[in-house]
Amino acid sequence: MPIIFDSEKKIFKLDTLNSSYIFKIYRENYLVHLYYGAKIPDYNLTDFEKRNMYASFSPSNCNMTDCDFSADTYPFEIGCNGAGDMRISALQIRGSSGCAATDVRYVSHKIYSGKRALEGLPALYANTDDECTTLEVETLDKVTGAKVTLIYTVFEKLSAMTRSLVIENTSDKSFEIERALSFSLDLPTKDFELYTLYGRHNKERVVEKRPLAHGLQGIHSKRGSSSHQHNPFMALLKLDGGEEHGDAYGFNLVYSCNFTSQVEVDYNCSSRVTMGINPDDFGWTLAPSEKFYTPEAVLVYSDEGLGGMSRTFHKLYNTNLVRGPWKNKKRPLLINNWEGTYFDFTDDKLFDIAKWAKSVGIEMLVMDDGWFGVRNCDNCSLGDWYVNENKLKGGLSKLIERIKGLGLKFGIWYEPEMISPDSDLYRAHPDWCIHVEGRERSIGRQQYVLDMTRADVRDNIFNQMSEVFANNDIDYIKWDFNRNISEAGSAILPPEKQKEFFHRYILGTYELMDRFVKAFPHLLFENCSGGGGRYDPGMMYFSPQIWCSDNTDALERLDIQFGSSLCYPASVQGAHVSASRRTSYETKRNVAMWGSFGYELDPAKLDDETNEIVKQQVADYHKYYDLIHYGELYRLISPHNDPYKCAWEFVSEDKTQAMLTVVFRHYIEKGNFFIKLRGLCADKYYKCEETEQIYSGALLMKAGLNLNDYDDYDGESYALHFSEVK
Ligand code: DGJ
Repeated sequence: MPIIFDSEKKIFKLDTLNSSYIFKIYRENYLVHLYYGAKIPDYNLTDFEKRNMYASFSPSNCNMTDCDFSADTYPFEIGCNGAGDMRISALQIRGSSGCAATDVRYVSHKIYSGKRALEGLPALYANTDDECTTLEVETLDKVTGAKVTLIYTVFEKLSAMTRSLVIENTSDKSFEIERALSFSLDLPTKDFELYTLYGRHNKERVVEKRPLAHGLQGIHSKRGSSSHQHNPFMALLKLDGGEEHGDAYGFNLVYSCNFTSQVEVDYNCSSRVTMGINPDDFGWTLAPSEKFYTPEAVLVYSDEGLGGMSRTFHKLYNTNLVRGPWKNKKRPLLINNWEGTYFDFTDDKLFDIAKWAKSVGIEMLVMDDGWFGVRNCDNCSLGDWYVNENKLKGGLSKLIERIKGLGLKFGIWYEPEMISPDSDLYRAHPDWCIHVEGRERSIGRQQYVLDMTRADVRDNIFNQMSEVFANNDIDYIKWDFNRNISEAGSAILPPEKQKEFFHRYILGTYELMDRFVKAFPHLLFENCSGGGGRYDPGMMYFSPQIWCSDNTDALERLDIQFGSSLCYPASVQGAHVSASRRTSYETKRNVAMWGSFGYELDPAKLDDETNEIVKQQVADYHKYYDLIHYGELYRLISPHNDPYKCAWEFVSEDKTQAMLTVVFRHYIEKGNFFIKLRGLCADKYYKCEETEQIYSGALLMKAGLNLNDYDDYDGESYALHFSEVK
């Protein structure tokens, strides 16, 4: 059994392939954390809960004169506010007394196979009940009547687990939830480097690392989305660890709105890790017998460093997060017209692009922004989802008929959550956008955000869009979101519920997405938010692809793709070859091949030689699709460690195929360049397709390859492919 409970010792043990997670019911029914790390067979950890304490200052409520227990220092399964624990808390409930001291204690538990869905929220799922096991621990704060259920699911074969809370009001008076993070985890040391992914538009998810220090450190978003600026991901790597060795813990929140992710190192050098809904600008009134579900957090442990941690996330998300018919189906190779034409296109221009696409083997045309209302630039028409017949003569159906006549699939762009002030929708419903009465409405990209907390708003958008989907043969939707939320408020929420706005916003968006996914299951959704502003597992639950960044420059993309890969699989990563200013088409291809590959350019500007190159790239896309989408990733040289060159490798799960890619960002004086491959089978022999040389896996991994003969000028790159020879 992956989860056991020793009723005598009152210990819970949650095992996966490579990890153990252990806690116990202690003294007056506290839930005390004992261990999370490499798998161990037993659980004789009786003394692990003990921490140093200064008895006079760290309060204790155990009513014992010789008390060596204090809520201020003990490691807890869920850190509560104001009842002696002075560290950052995961839970804070303001009861009907007006006080916010919170103290939940164990009541009961149950263990079962499989995993339950979280009401209204995206979450990991079990394909079959034997894939994972769940422990639900019921606790109670006897003063407020908050019943808090701690939910743990272990994905036994993947060294991963999920955690979340359900809060239920069992009292007869309402209370206020002021903090409801998804988990807290108390690790006994501060000997870690903290890894986070920071960025901005055009430069998302850049790796940043820093050693833990006393006090608080972390990231958050208050933008109404998970954001370009900070991804809801964090990792802790033991100070003696590295890319392929040492203890690594990864944390990721399945949520697309305001989040917090913090570590506090206390005076005993213990580290409390927390993650969940950002308590800034959040509160939730829970009436008697109502329930509140927190988003789910994913926890991964690896003793193979950051690389092992990433590979676990990748497998987990490919198997237990991404859903629908496109989950394991080969995605169509697409061309998107955005960077080729921007708003300046007609049906004939799109048809020309499609003809070229067909001639080189591309499978789908995606028509981007500008096809609806009177939209010729970004200052109008969002919300008016009817076709602009001045651009598309004969309408959408006519265009689709022409594209389909070529044998191509057809995709279309939407920004469903937005409204332009210059739109029919806004003129009819000026109160449908997010706003605060009496305050100026801040504009972002010349648009406002629709109030997704409102069912009437969601219904309107659903009806407009479904009419288009029902009457046209559409295969793919690009779902965009191009500004952050300000003046957060809804015209229909009463004053006491305005603090619930942000969470209600994202629940509304999820509800709308879910409706589309269910009503039009054949559609392939690609999420986007000015590139990767909502590149999070919440969105991945609805769309198996996300446009990684608006920055399509191959060399700039390296930082972005390496950073994204810490947590997210290649199959999700939208990556296109564009006409961007630098590098050869070979380098563009080598970088974009690490993802859901496609094109984003005006083919009329390509010469014959480039057309031939594209044909070869298309053939390569098909040939290496499975290796990249389902293979295991090894980051051999990461840009956050080497400013000059990068290298990565995909190895098929059965270890019969591998692909090594090397990119030089800056010319360096020629020196020896030997590279050791990883993840191969030492006993197998592999033939390099390009050189026809045969090597053992052991040689490639231990001695490495001598790459001195390859060009290493700015922007040069190459890919080498290896197949097993019997
Ligand atoms: C932002 C997206 O990231 C781009 O790819 C493009 O779709 C534009 N929006 C269109 O406005």
